Amino acid sequence: MQQAEIGLIGLGVMGSNLALNIAEHGYRIAVWNRTAEKTRSFAATAGALSDRIVPCETLEDLVAAIRPPRPIILMVQAGAAVDEQIAALRPLLSADDIVIDAGNANFRDTMRRFAELEGSSLTFIGMGVSGGEEGARHGPSIMVGGTQASWLRVRDVLTAISARYRDEPCVAWLGRNGAGHFVKTIHNGIEYADMQMIAEIYGILRDGARLDTAAMARLFEQWNGGRLESYLIEITAKVLAAADPETGRPMVDVIVDSAGQKGTGRWSVIEAQMMGVPATAIEAAVAARGLSALKDERAAAESLYGTPTTGFERAIVREAVADLELALLAGKIAAYAQGFAVMEAASKEFDWGLPMATIARIWRAGCIIRSQFLDTIAEAFEGAPPGNLMAAPRFVDLMTEAVPALRRTVARAALAGIPVPALSAALAYFDAYRTGRGTANLVQAQRDFFGAHGFERIDRPGAHHGPWGA
Ligand code: ATR
Repeated sequence: MQQAEIGLIGLGVMGSNLALNIAEHGYRIAVWNRTAEKTRSFAATAGALSDRIVPCETLEDLVAAIRPPRPIILMVQAGAAVDEQIAALRPLLSADDIVIDAGNANFRDTMRRFAELEGSSLTFIGMGVSGGEEGARHGPSIMVGGTQASWLRVRDVLTAISARYRDEPCVAWLGRNGAGHFVKTIHNGIEYADMQMIAEIYGILRDGARLDTAAMARLFEQWNGGRLESYLIEITAKVLAAADPETGRPMVDVIVDSAGQKGTGRWSVIEAQMMGVPATAIEAAVAARGLSALKDERAAAESLYGTPTTGFERAIVREAVADLELALLAGKIAAYAQGFAVMEAASKEFDWGLPMATIARIWRAGCIIRSQFLDTIAEAFEGAPPGNLMAAPRFVDLMTEAVPALRRTVARAALAGIPVPALSAALAYFDAYRTGRGTANLVQAQRDFFGAHGFERIDRPGAHHGPWGA
């Protein structure tokens, strides 16, 4: 029997869709799943693609079914399962075989795995795959970390299965070892901020402007035709327009206001903190998920303090709503600037040489934050020296235009008692970033007062102490 060109382990939602995608692009793929029943039902439901799928009952069968040197994709639950599978594969593989972890690994685990496999004949790739089930099936955005030589060996198949923005494939080699999984983590952090800011705008529309959901859906649809055009705005319009088949009420109105998280947003914040890079809008978004989970406490607090808002006065509703599109744009720019700044710092710390323009380009399609806006970001980073996105000329123009709307929006929300943590973090970040003389002089004086930490003076070099006395 003709041997497969590639193998895949783990036929969960992501793995099975990725396998179908690979088969659809003409590759013969051998698959194995820990629970054999899943392998059988997967092969049985592959339809016309089943000719190119080789279901295997054991790992040994899987390895034997692939033509060496073998590329094998791991799409198993992140964490211990990846280590277990690598350990199980190692004795079965030959020199030059490539194991590709395509799961949502913490990049620090990926770094460890690279270190553990160094010196072995096995090649390892850590690869971020974004776009959920739909992306995996029809074209995800793919962020590759590993040696350049290993990338060149899997480039064709990854290019074939990736999303396309216009004609450009949304896949790239981003750097050594953990680079791909790190960039995927930051992608998710940005995604959290993007989603949270959209939810805050929804909160202003619902609790401030008191619009009905159908009117909100129309607004989002309209925004999707402008500068906010993106997958998340598009699906928000659709979500708001949907009715609950059981009650006939707007679907969003019958959904509990507690959102879960799997951890990648949190990792991006942890890494930002470890490197001392402010990523406050992303932090606020992650914290907002935490607060959303405190459903009972929030309900109890509402009874202690009373209903937070009676909505905007009628006279300001029109102008408040008119500001929201630009407010969201400004908030989004600040959040993306933070995400890219975290990547810039990590690139230096881990010596990856992350290509910022390329990262923006491979996020333009396939992934959850896909948007036209990323095209503008790619242009800003193209050929420019690394630096904060908000300092790029195109973004200076955009922020100059959009920040006043963000400022009014945050102010109105604050006065009305509507929480907008990510939008207000974005605004504060912008204001702090563009303030040449801030207030840390006082903090320095305090630190010197209680801990003799010393400070720098504005008028001459060296470490100095204040006249604080005993
Ligand atoms: P889903 O993607 O459907 O939500 P998941 O629970 O995230 O599923 O698991 C993804 C894949 O990881 C599954 O193929 C699962 O195998 P099973 O079908 O046998 O559960 C696989 N997986 C999880 N832990 C594993 C382990 N320790 N070893 C091998 N595969 C494992």
